[in-house]
Amino acid sequence: MAETTRGCPISHADFGADTEIYGHYALLDAHREESRFHFNDTTPRGFWMLERYDDVLEGFQKHEVWTTHARSALNPDATLELLPQDLNGEAHVKLRRVINPFFAPAAVKRMTPMAHRRCVELIEELRPKGSCDFVAEFAIRYPTDLFLALLGLPVSDGEFFLPWSETLFAGFFGGDPVAAAAARKNIVDYFSEAVNERRANPRDPKEDMVSRLVEARVDGEPISHEDILTICMTLMLAGLDTTRSALGYIYTHLARHDEDRRLLTREPELIPAAVEEFIRMYPLVFQAGREVRQPENFHGVDLEAGDVIWLGIASANRDPRKFPEPDRFVIGRKGVNQHLGFGAGPHRCLGMHLARLELAVVIKEWHERIPDYRIRQGTELVERGGQLTLTTLPLEWEV
Ligand code: HEM
Repeated sequence: MAETTRGCPISHADFGADTEIYGHYALLDAHREESRFHFNDTTPRGFWMLERYDDVLEGFQKHEVWTTHARSALNPDATLELLPQDLNGEAHVKLRRVINPFFAPAAVKRMTPMAHRRCVELIEELRPKGSCDFVAEFAIRYPTDLFLALLGLPVSDGEFFLPWSETLFAGFFGGDPVAAAAARKNIVDYFSEAVNERRANPRDPKEDMVSRLVEARVDGEPISHEDILTICMTLMLAGLDTTRSALGYIYTHLARHDEDRRLLTREPELIPAAVEEFIRMYPLVFQAGREVRQPENFHGVDLEAGDVIWLGIASANRDPRKFPEPDRFVIGRKGVNQHLGFGAGPHRCLGMHLARLELAVVIKEWHERIPDYRIRQGTELVERGGQLTLTTLPLEWEV
């Protein structure tokens, strides 16, 4: 380990690259055990990697001085605006106060009957076929439908909304930029129409999120039309790909571990605890970025204003100092709720209760109907870098 910068070993690992499944975790585990911190030089600005649980948690709590001006260490200069992510301090707290009620446990509970109903419909469409690409045919469709329902928009709009959001996502990860820009415009226009409709015909702002965004006041001022569109776009970007990815890893695990699959089928009351352990063990948002505001010494590392920080979520969730035998799937693991899969501090995931509901509903309803399935023989599972997702997961079952 000859090369160092400001006393830190240098990492040349490219975490934006695709690998075989679990390739990122293996690389991150090796990094964490090699050194407490690294400086990674694979991006134009480089970034300081925090990898142990205690350091990552401390980093999430330093929101006063480490801000979301760099949301991702891998792409700290992304120009796409996101709300509430891009805000910090008091302005962030105020906007979260407006949106939080729609993602609070009570609001998510209200969505439960609909979440079950839609899930069963989608499973019943697939069941007679005996096989599917779980990622493309189920794992992205389901959260898209729930997202539309959350915004008070017709679930049937998923037909045209899903291809747009897929094209837009693809654009972030090397897909056609022209098609992605066109898809983005379609989505913005669609949201804009919905917002205008609510301005003309407001619904109960306690129940309808768009109506609440329209009537809300922050410091006595309404939220601008553009900001409302940005909030809708943010929820879409933050909520769909993540849930799809989580389902991909969960179903890979369950397809490969007969005992765990049979246990959850037999004892569905264990599912919520299993979901928490899945989020700990297979974190797909494997890092969050931050930008340092002022010079400081962080446990021996000299940081300068403008430095980019990597809060290593996956490294922390798999740190044996915090979670003994981190590669073991343990339902009811002690302290599992302290995992950082949803982040920590004021930017902690807004949609985490919704995500937990979606994942638990899918596992329950699917295994009641399709208790046994396998990954198609010969499939090589590939995970996308940047933010983990499986590109495909072909499943088969008896009909
Ligand atoms: C398994 C699924 C999910 C995972 C693993 C996940 C993970 C995360 C993580 C790690 C953060 C913190 C980022 C940071 O500190 O910079 C975050 C923030 C966020 N998430 Fe999620 N998320 C999931 C699902 C969702 C869903 C379903 C929604 C909404 C529909 C959502 C909306 C958001 C928003 C808006 C933020 C930004 C919060 C803020 O900056 O105040 N997420 N998520």
